[in-house]
Amino acid sequence: MSGSVKRNAYAAILAGGSGTRMGNSEKPKQFLMLGSKPVLVHTVEKFCLAGSFDEVIVLCPEAWLRQTRDLLRKYSPAFADEVTVIAGGATRNDTVMAAVRYVEGRCESVADAVLVTHDAVRPFVSQRIIEENIEAARAHGACDTVFPATDTIVESRDAGTISAIPNRSVLYQGQTPQSFNLAKLKELMLGLTEDEKSILTDACKIFVLRGEKVALVRGDSSNMKITYPQDMRLASALLEG
Ligand code: CTP
Repeated sequence: MSGSVKRNAYAAILAGGSGTRMGNSEKPKQFLMLGSKPVLVHTVEKFCLAGSFDEVIVLCPEAWLRQTRDLLRKYSPAFADEVTVIAGGATRNDTVMAAVRYVEGRCESVADAVLVTHDAVRPFVSQRIIEENIEAARAHGACDTVFPATDTIVESRDAGTISAIPNRSVLYQGQTPQSFNLAKLKELMLGLTEDEKSILTDACKIFVLRGEKVALVRGDSSNMKITYPQDMRLASALLEG
């Protein structure tokens, strides 16, 4: 990316989802307007502004490739040319894998490349979180962005009665980015069985289950994920604030 130091670090903005819980079947939530620009554009700009990436890649649904490029040109003309838009996959893991394959063909050294994956629908990610992700993935091979759980978490295995109430002081809410050494991520994802693929929808969980260390990066309460219509209202309020 022009004007920045090459660090063999790549950002993958995951925008391949359909947003069914948002209830807007015409337009996935990452393309909805938040203030003056689409959610996705806010997110992409955070990663371009970081100036830490060799390339910022947006992975969107195949049918949205042209619109995504057009939206970036329209709402973020200063950065649009620096961003690569490619198709994601049917599941979130497939989208991550599409990013892995793309970056593999682009980077000088797969062995020490870092891939920072981030939900397109978390537009308030901070520069601190992005920087700490690159550093932690470089140092430890994988990291997850987490925020201490605020509510007590109750476990119920029969959906009727409580089976456990884990100690809240050791519980965190998972956010993104999740960042990885590219070679390690590829090796672990390719090693999944078909059964595992349907259960392991979280790339960090794949590392944990294979006994690999995943470091924690402190998240932020404002690094919210837009999932339901009320989240759009909250995001608008945060943007104005
Ligand atoms: N995502 C993706 N590719 C997929 C599925 C999800 O890149 N095949 C992305 C989404 O675009 C989003 C992030 O992963 O930025 C988190 O996805 P989530 O909100 O959980 O899923 P959606 O499919 O977008 O929404 P829903 O589950 O409500 O259908």
